[in-house]
Amino acid sequence: MDMRKAIDAMAAGREISEDSISHILTVEGRDMDYLFHTADEIRQQICGDVIHVRGIIEFSSYCRCACLYCGLQAGNEKLLRYRMPPQEIVATAQEAIAAGYRTLVLQAGEDLWYDKTILSSIINDLSACEAAITLGVGERRLDEYQAWKEAGADRYLIKHETADEALYNRLHPHSSFANRLKCMRQIQELGYQLGSGFMVGLPGQTNRTLAKDIMLLKELDVDMAGIGPFIAHPQTELAGSCSGDPMLTIKCVAIARIALKRVHLPATTALGVRGAEYKKSAFAAGANVIMLKLEPHEYRALYDIYPKSLGPIKTIAEERKQLEEYVTSVGRQVADDNGDAIRL
Ligand code: 5AD
Repeated sequence: MDMRKAIDAMAAGREISEDSISHILTVEGRDMDYLFHTADEIRQQICGDVIHVRGIIEFSSYCRCACLYCGLQAGNEKLLRYRMPPQEIVATAQEAIAAGYRTLVLQAGEDLWYDKTILSSIINDLSACEAAITLGVGERRLDEYQAWKEAGADRYLIKHETADEALYNRLHPHSSFANRLKCMRQIQELGYQLGSGFMVGLPGQTNRTLAKDIMLLKELDVDMAGIGPFIAHPQTELAGSCSGDPMLTIKCVAIARIALKRVHLPATTALGVRGAEYKKSAFAAGANVIMLKLEPHEYRALYDIYPKSLGPIKTIAEERKQLEEYVTSVGRQVADDNGDAIRL
């Protein structure tokens, strides 16, 4: 089918399938501009011109997992690990709220030190604040998910990483695709808003896999989806692999916007690592969310998921102000609400 017709059919909700997505992923040149423009229009209609700013506290770099792509994998003995004490997490969150943040993401490796009780008490300390609380602490038990929801957590981020089950199981020898999906369904059933997502450019992945990734997001009807390029980390099994193509990543963001409509889509931090211009392009191709680190600077280099460069040391309020200027520079405004899931 003609490329523009395929894009129009997807935008109209007529033709959303693995085949049509695989086809659209090959788009280049003027047709690619058409894809991005179509996604941008849908973003404008559904999300408006605001960008939601999520503040993320990466509070522990300990991890029990063995993900082949991730620098935090338990086997990386070269990495110096840290755990933020609960009072420091709460103080950081409060400083962020005072600086204007309306969503706090508490994210960490799968670190069982933060058990049901400890994490509940942190959430409870923050639940009176006006900010939404998002957790991203991986595959845990149902009773833990339940307790944290009751303590006041609103949302949960747990990416499916890749929808190719065999590839997923190779990349995650400590767990399985089936368990990942089970956790995601439990989290949704408990009433959390669910964020998923995947990486682009994993070794062994094809356009067909990416089409499956986007179809899975649609099937799960996720509220948020983080789509970022894979970045090879030197202290992992995938050291020396090629990193993901940023333009292919942006095509996935655009297609996700067109196919899923209401989903929140960040211009991911990993995309920014490949070049600031790519982040800007993502905002012109369907993205409506940005995430900013909040943990004290001494921890940031140690949260070494993938190689990245860190900016100059500033306060949370200064970084927020700089971000507000950035959002204005791309022709958008910072949202003043907490950016809950969009329900059509
Ligand atoms: N490159 C890109 N993204 C990565 N993540 C983990 N390791 C890498 C990597 N090497 C992403 C995963 C995970 C999130 C916290 O970071 O998608 O869900």
